[in-house]
Amino acid sequence: MDLVLATANPHKAEEIAEILGSVAGLTLRPRPDGVAEVEETGTSLLENARLKARSLCRATGLPAVADDTGLMVDALDGAPGVFSARYAGESATYADNVAKLLTELAAAGGGGDRRARFSTVALVALPDGTEQWAEGTVAGAIAAEPRGDQGFGYDPVFVPDGAHGRTFAEMSIEEKDACSHRGRAFRALAEVLAHDLADPGAGAAARPVGRAGEQAGAGDEPLR
Ligand code: IMP
Repeated sequence: MDLVLATANPHKAEEIAEILGSVAGLTLRPRPDGVAEVEETGTSLLENARLKARSLCRATGLPAVADDTGLMVDALDGAPGVFSARYAGESATYADNVAKLLTELAAAGGGGDRRARFSTVALVALPDGTEQWAEGTVAGAIAAEPRGDQGFGYDPVFVPDGAHGRTFAEMSIEEKDACSHRGRAFRALAEVLAHDLADPGAGAAARPVGRAGEQAGAGDEPLR
């Protein structure tokens, strides 16, 4: 099965290709030039992942995979959440978003509560109107200041649990992948796709359950 990748972000494309590239019977295709980006108007990660995958599926006539990620910070009532990309404004840079996050967290006080989590929903939209999706989450804390030069986005200020205090930006791609929200979501999705491709007749009834910190699904269940 050919599967078109919605993301044009090279960091994300590399992480995703590493995981989905190992699914037998799946050929990943890059997003074709000239296909317009869809506006992310959804109110949840699931809605936005679906919007992106569906529009690319319609434009190409092929199965398409998209993902949507949010950083949820406890002391900020879950912000920036679904608005993580444009937290500091429509044309905000990664550095602008990180700076705003640290400022808001300092202003919130919050008794020093710096707990946060990243979540990703990865969704495949098929031309027959059906879909498969999975969610991956990683819990951690927001660092006092940015550290490291790997990765992208909020990586310099996110310290995942169990990483001995290192931020995602202080890890190699492989280390980050092994425990990240996106790694977990795409590994769960890869399992579902591998299962469906190996046994196309089995359909939804035989779908595996996601692992700890992951969730797999195929319906319209709201995530948050
Ligand atoms: P998107 O939905 O994947 O485009 O992610 C929305 C925003 O979340 C991005 O613009 C980044 O700022 C941030 N983000 C997504 N994935 C990551 C990650 O793996 N590390 C750090 N920040 C991320």
